[in-house]
Amino acid sequence: MKLILLGAPGSGKGTMAEKLSQEFNLQHLSTGEIFRAEMSKKTQLGMKAQELINQGKLVPDEITINMLKPKIAGKDDYLLDGFPRTIPQAEAIADQKIDAVIYLKISEAAVIERLSGRRICSQCQTGYHLKYVPPKKSGVCDHCNGKLIQRVDDAPEAVQKRFREFNEKTQPLVDYYSKRGLLQTIDAAKSPDQVYAQVWKVVQKLD
Ligand code: AP5
Repeated sequence: MKLILLGAPGSGKGTMAEKLSQEFNLQHLSTGEIFRAEMSKKTQLGMKAQELINQGKLVPDEITINMLKPKIAGKDDYLLDGFPRTIPQAEAIADQKIDAVIYLKISEAAVIERLSGRRICSQCQTGYHLKYVPPKKSGVCDHCNGKLIQRVDDAPEAVQKRFREFNEKTQPLVDYYSKRGLLQTIDAAKSPDQVYAQVWKVVQKLD
C-alpha cells in the first residue's frame, strides 16, 4: 500500500503517520524528520536545509526530490508524510501507483494552538502536546527519558511563513489529487483518536 498524508503544518500528519505505519506495517517517510536528522548530524544537506526550515521556508524541490526518490524506489509499502508539498514534487513521483492521498483538513486557528503547545523529544523525536498529548512526567519523554524541546520552526514568525508556503504551494495539491480520484478528506479538527478512527476507515478499505 502506498499512501500520502497531506495537510497544513500541525494538522496531525506525524501523529497519524506514527499510528498508521505501526498498524498497517508501512514504512513511514517524513521529509521533515529526514531533514531534522540531517540537521542534527550537521551533514551538507542538513546545513543547507537548516536555515530555510528554521525560517519556515520550503527546501527547494530539486534537493527534496533527490533526497526522497531513492528511498521509495522499488518499495511496495510506504506512507509519505510531508511529501509531496508542491506540484513539481507530485509530478516527480507520478510514476508511483499511489492508493490514496489522505488530506487532514483543519483551520489555521486550530493548528496555531497545536503548534504552540507541541514539544518533541530531543533524543527520539517522539511528539507531544502540552494539553492534548502530554508526557507522563513534565518535560521528559515517556519512551527514552529524553528532554522535551520546542522546534525552532514553531516560533510564531516561522509558523506564519509556513502557512504562507502551505497556502501558496501545497494547497494546490488538494485539487491535483482530487482530479485524479485519490483524495480522501478527513476532518482533522477532532481529538487524535477521533481523527485516527476516520483515517483508519479509509485505509482499512484499501488493505
Ligand atoms: P514537517 O516536519 O513535515 O512540518 P509540517 O508539515 O509543518 O508539519 P508538522 O510536523 O509541523 O505538523 P504535523 O502535521 O506532522 O502535526 P503533528 O502530528 O506534529 O516539515 C518541516 C519543514 O521541513 C518544512 O517547513 C519545510 O521547511 C521542510 N520540508 C519538509 N518536507 C518538505 C518538502 N516535501 N518540500 C520542501 N520542504 C520540506 O501535530 C502537531 C501538534 O498537535 C503535536 O503537538 C501533536 O501532539 C498535536 N496533535 C496532533 N493531532 C492532534 C489532534 N487531533 N488534536 C489535538 N492535538 C493534536
